[in-house]
Amino acid sequence: MPIEKIIVLEDDLVVRKNLEQQLRYRRYDVAAVNTIAGAQELLSKDNFDLMIVDIRLPDGDGRTLLKQLQSRPMKPLVVMISGFGTVDVAVECMSNGAFTFLTKPFSPEQLAVTLKKAEEHTQLVKVSQFLSHAEDDEAGYELLGKSQQIEQLRQLIRRVARTQATVLIQGESGTGKELVARALYRQSPRDTAPFIKLNCAAIPENLIESEFFGHEKGAFTGALTKREGRFELAHGGTILLDEISEISPPVQAKLLRVLQEREFERVGGNRTIKVNVRVIATTNRQLSESVERKEFRQDLFFRLNVVPIYISPLREHKQDVPLLAEQFRIRFARKHGMEVKGFSDHCMSALMDHDWPGNVRELQNVVERAVILCGERGIIEPAHLGLAQRPDSAQAALGMTTAHILSSSTPDSGGFCTLSELEKRHILAALERSKGNRTHAAKMLSISIRTLRNKLNEYKFKPPAAHPARTAIRE
Ligand SMILES: Nc1ncnc2c1ncn2[C@@H]1O[C@H](COP(=O)(O)OP(=O)(O)OP(=O)(O)O)[C@@H](O)[C@H]1O
Ligand SMILES: [Mg+2]
Repeated sequence: MPIEKIIVLEDDLVVRKNLEQQLRYRRYDVAAVNTIAGAQELLSKDNFDLMIVDIRLPDGDGRTLLKQLQSRPMKPLVVMISGFGTVDVAVECMSNGAFTFLTKPFSPEQLAVTLKKAEEHTQLVKVSQFLSHAEDDEAGYELLGKSQQIEQLRQLIRRVARTQATVLIQGESGTGKELVARALYRQSPRDTAPFIKLNCAAIPENLIESEFFGHEKGAFTGALTKREGRFELAHGGTILLDEISEISPPVQAKLLRVLQEREFERVGGNRTIKVNVRVIATTNRQLSESVERKEFRQDLFFRLNVVPIYISPLREHKQDVPLLAEQFRIRFARKHGMEVKGFSDHCMSALMDHDWPGNVRELQNVVERAVILCGERGIIEPAHLGLAQRPDSAQAALGMTTAHILSSSTPDSGGFCTLSELEKRHILAALERSKGNRTHAAKMLSISIRTLRNKLNEYKFKPPAAHPARTAIRE
């Protein structure tokens, strides 16, 4: 419920009590006062979501308070009420920032309609505040590819999108899991409701619960005001829980309850909040294996895995590489204002020969860089791809001594290794030293396992196929 706390400012005892009763019945938190001074005192202590304000009051005019409220940073919606409502007064109130105007007496139905509109309005404002902070570049892109794998994926999306079923999307990093999640949303009946994303791996463990479920004012140090969590923002719409394998056991337990009962409490709160949300989760790990290792609750896995969608790695549908490369060439030539005509034959063969451990994302990055580097002729050659000397082929970085690391450099760093390159090599060297055991490697590096995983995802690190035993990833 986006609206919780309401002030009723009305001097007529009967009307005030009546309003208070109706609002309490609808489970709002109501404070009722009969003077402007009383309302101001309440406002000095707390934030309110909505005010119902009479115009003629013993200590002044409700319209003056309405004007004052407009300069508050967290201003409530104001519903003005009056027994002497003329069109002029109503227009004046609206132009001074009132949400709406009701003429007394009004029926419970009129009040209900007003509250419903106010709820919808508040929800929209909150979602748009969230979206204006979120990066949303990817929103409009289509799933490209003509291979059987991609065609089947498209069909599955069409069938599943129509339902309300929870979906678990699995696939290696860069295969397009988020893209598929967005396609599911766009083709669903909820396409006009919010789509809210939460990257579970990117948020520090101690903040994740409050990101999911929100918190009350004063729930922890720094919680200066109440804040809605992503589940509340997604009410009526869809939530994407990205990298779901990364949540801790206590949060897993709470998420299970949301999936079963569609209800939760905010951190530090005891009011139960009910939501209607469609859940889509993604992971680039084998979640069933995490279940076997007892890192992920089996009951939660079953709840999430109602409709499983698996996306194949690009190396298993290489026939899509030319089409994807062409589309990315066009997209990035436009983005960077370059004229790039196409790929040379040799270049296309190089693209087909590559194994794409970072999947479509890697291809996309390679093409973007090639578009920038290809120069006047406008034809992309193998040298522009930089595939041969890519340091993240892992082999290059594994097994290096510190002396190697410090003395070697990347081709474009002017003979000196960059700091991020050095960090990457050091991490991969630690992984080599720990024989692929991530927990040990993270300990050696004094970083959390989560940070290590994120960094490896960033590098699109995959253990080289030739040495499965040597680099098998173990936690
Ligand atoms: N079939 C495809 N057609 C067009 N673009 C694609 C396709 N698959 C992936 N992409 C693009 O590749 C990039 C990576 O995709 P996305 O972020 O969805 O991958 P992901 O599986 O969620 O990766 P990660 O596990 O690392 O989060 C995005 O820019 C996306 O638009
Ligand atoms: Mg993703």
